[in-house]
Amino acid sequence: MRNFLNIADHSSSLLRNIIDEAKDRKNKRQGQNKSSIDKDKPLDGKSMIMIFEKPSTRTRISFDLAIKQLGGSSMILNPDGIHYGKGEESIKDTARVLSEYSDILMIRTSSHKNLEEFSKYSKIPVINGLSDQSHPCQVMSDILTFEENNGNIEGKTISWIGDGNNNMSNSFIEAAVKFKFNLKIGCPKKYSPNNKILRWASKNNTKIFVTKDPREAIKDADCIMTDKWVSMNDKVNKKAKKKSLKDYQVNKKLFKLAKAECIFMHCLPVGRGEEVTDDIIDGKKSVILQQAANRVHAQKSIIYWCLS
Ligand code: CP
Ligand code: NVA
Repeated sequence: MRNFLNIADHSSSLLRNIIDEAKDRKNKRQGQNKSSIDKDKPLDGKSMIMIFEKPSTRTRISFDLAIKQLGGSSMILNPDGIHYGKGEESIKDTARVLSEYSDILMIRTSSHKNLEEFSKYSKIPVINGLSDQSHPCQVMSDILTFEENNGNIEGKTISWIGDGNNNMSNSFIEAAVKFKFNLKIGCPKKYSPNNKILRWASKNNTKIFVTKDPREAIKDADCIMTDKWVSMNDKVNKKAKKKSLKDYQVNKKLFKLAKAECIFMHCLPVGRGEEVTDDIIDGKKSVILQQAANRVHAQKSIIYWCLS
């Protein structure tokens, strides 16, 4: 089954093909309306079910547009409105039943285990639309966005500043291994990447540079990224976490240390005035809206691969 749950699950060449196919398909539909179908209608008559355990703006709408542009349709389900592993019907049974109605599933979950359970029993491909552990579709579209601005990502330097141990940073570590870019993470010790993922990177011949000093992390950067200090899943003392991250705010002073062509990325939603200042997020180097738009194109390519 062609699932897309983690970047680590796939080969570098497959991931490269997905990005290149996304660029190609995006270029071919220049000038078409946002909801109009690609000329070749590759997924005519196919449908996608999406389940959101947690809020979403970008993932919800970009997946809907993605399947539409490929010629298919989508249904969005709220776990509260269906039988969903709460005693009355197990995830196993829900997965098997949904497989009869649709061709592909996209799930946003608070628990990566739910995603694994779904993919174990589903007879159709499953895509991870964000879990507590990873956010692979966001990172794939961020690679597309990076390359549209600053060329092939191989050998480039990406600086991740702030929370070094969340779903986005995990997927970026996996991507650094697969796409061979330098990843420098600037974070307090308490929010460093977990050792398991660092060991996995090292076993795969990639050294992730982790430092407590955000200035050191930003030096020579081609791209600076950050994320909310408190993620949707974070069961932490929010005030205390924000306090320990306050020196990791991406602002003008810090940004000056990067290369002249350095761009700023953020997957959104953003904590303005917390992980990043307004002048950076709204400034000339920020490509946040291009990132949001590219979710559609990268995900089209992911869906298409899953169904090929
Ligand atoms: N970046 C992202 O996944 O946004 P949403 O939470 O709005 O889907
Ligand atoms: N780390 C963030 C990403 C949001 C798209 C979260 O999980 O809330």
